[in-house]
Amino acid sequence: MTKDFGNLPAGGSHSGEAVGIDDLSVYVPGLFLPLSGEFSLDRGIDPGKLIKGIGIERMAVPDAHEDAATMAANSLLDLMQRCDLAPEDIAKIYVGTESAVDEAKAIGTYVIGMLEKVYGTGSFQDCSTVEFKSACIGTTLALESLSYWAAAEEEGRVGIVIASDVAKYPLRSSGEYTQGAGSVALLVKKHPRLAALEQIYGCFTRDENDFFRPMGCTTATVNGKHSNQCYLEAIQGAFDSFAGKAARSGAITPKSEECVTDFIDHFLFHIPYPRMVEYASAAIFRHDWLGCRKGQDVELEIGKEPQSLDYEDLELYQAAKADYARRFSKSRHFQEAYLAKVADTAALSRVVGNIYTGSIYLGLASLLELQKIRAGERLCFGAYGSGCSALVFSAIVQPEAETVPSRGIVKRLEERRQISLQEYERLHEGLMEKSLVEPSAEFALASIDHQGYRHYEYVC
Ligand code: HMG
Repeated sequence: MTKDFGNLPAGGSHSGEAVGIDDLSVYVPGLFLPLSGEFSLDRGIDPGKLIKGIGIERMAVPDAHEDAATMAANSLLDLMQRCDLAPEDIAKIYVGTESAVDEAKAIGTYVIGMLEKVYGTGSFQDCSTVEFKSACIGTTLALESLSYWAAAEEEGRVGIVIASDVAKYPLRSSGEYTQGAGSVALLVKKHPRLAALEQIYGCFTRDENDFFRPMGCTTATVNGKHSNQCYLEAIQGAFDSFAGKAARSGAITPKSEECVTDFIDHFLFHIPYPRMVEYASAAIFRHDWLGCRKGQDVELEIGKEPQSLDYEDLELYQAAKADYARRFSKSRHFQEAYLAKVADTAALSRVVGNIYTGSIYLGLASLLELQKIRAGERLCFGAYGSGCSALVFSAIVQPEAETVPSRGIVKRLEERRQISLQEYERLHEGLMEKSLVEPSAEFALASIDHQGYRHYEYVC
């Protein structure tokens, strides 16, 4: 569909100059555990459930020398090398993480310490850093914040947003097969090559106990089914807020029979596990299509939505709604929209798992590596963080996007080492004294001293 950008320059901000994501870099640990085979056998879970029902085939597992800080430093170094950035070009490093390595010291200061081992002591002195913690939405809130700074920046310097997390649940828990680890670094600046933010942010926040990690715990506590429900309600609320703001700004103004989703080419949702983006998109499309032509077509295919007035018993009404939701997600119209606009974003997550706050940007990396995005297309991001918050925002793919070189992520993922169940469990419990694969050309944790201060090195 031809897009009407209203009063905005295509993909621009109200301040005039376009601001957004110029490039990104992904770091994933070199170890992985397949979910079929030894793991599913030992846990007594049908591999079909993990691979189809959850959607994860392989989980990235950090080695003994890796943590959220080393992964962040590795993704940033790769980004700087890709984009030929010098330390003095970078004014701000905002790090989104819920796997902090210290309760007070910002993870970005450890990252800067590591980068200075490559670029020289003091080279990042004129760069500020702050840690954003807000479960899986931390990086997105950092990006929103940094985009306002970038729009006002007059000296040609750039900002970096890094997502870095180790997703960790107790062994043998139902969260265990939705773990993973990795980091994504985003270069944020004026005149970005990849995607210009439209600076329209739809928000939703409420206090929830769906997922949290009390002080001192190394694994998250999760109320699994409740967390899915919170995610869906929050994304729905943020999408409505986004749609209202997009209409008021003139960016998305559907005419009669059109709906907001018609104006969006790719949806990038937070990906705790690939099936979740299917649930999220089904909820968004179903809601958005009500009252539009598409909604009428779906009604012809699967019938009308159940109405509460037709049910005396609340349980029966809820069961009818759940059944309708299942039928909607299998409907031809939804499946076509899902395959065209959503499914590809989960490609990398299937072989990495949840990387918490970076997962949504791993979705962007999937689209880029699969060469699925084209200049002028509108991306709609749906970030979710437990606790809980959602932020829905949009960006326009820029003309230079197709010229940005591939990151070779797929090849790097193929070169990872498969580990055994026993090795995974020992790493998970922190019982591995030595690394399974000696670090090479990367940052590594060397030691933790008697005060708890962490010492990192760059291993050539
Ligand atoms: P579960 O109980 O393991 O799975 O919980 P299930 O029983 O709900 O089954 C999942 C799907 O597998 C179902 O599909 C089953 O039918 C299917 P559906 O019916 O929905 O279409 N299935 C099979 N398919 C094929 N062959 C089979 C088979 N058996 C069943 N044999 C849950 C899953 C995700 C809840 C659990 O793993 C968990 O608690 N994970 C951690 C929490 C989580 O990821 N929540 C997501 C929303 S919250 C969020 O995204 C935030 C987060 O990233 C943290 C943050 O913000 O920081 C987590």
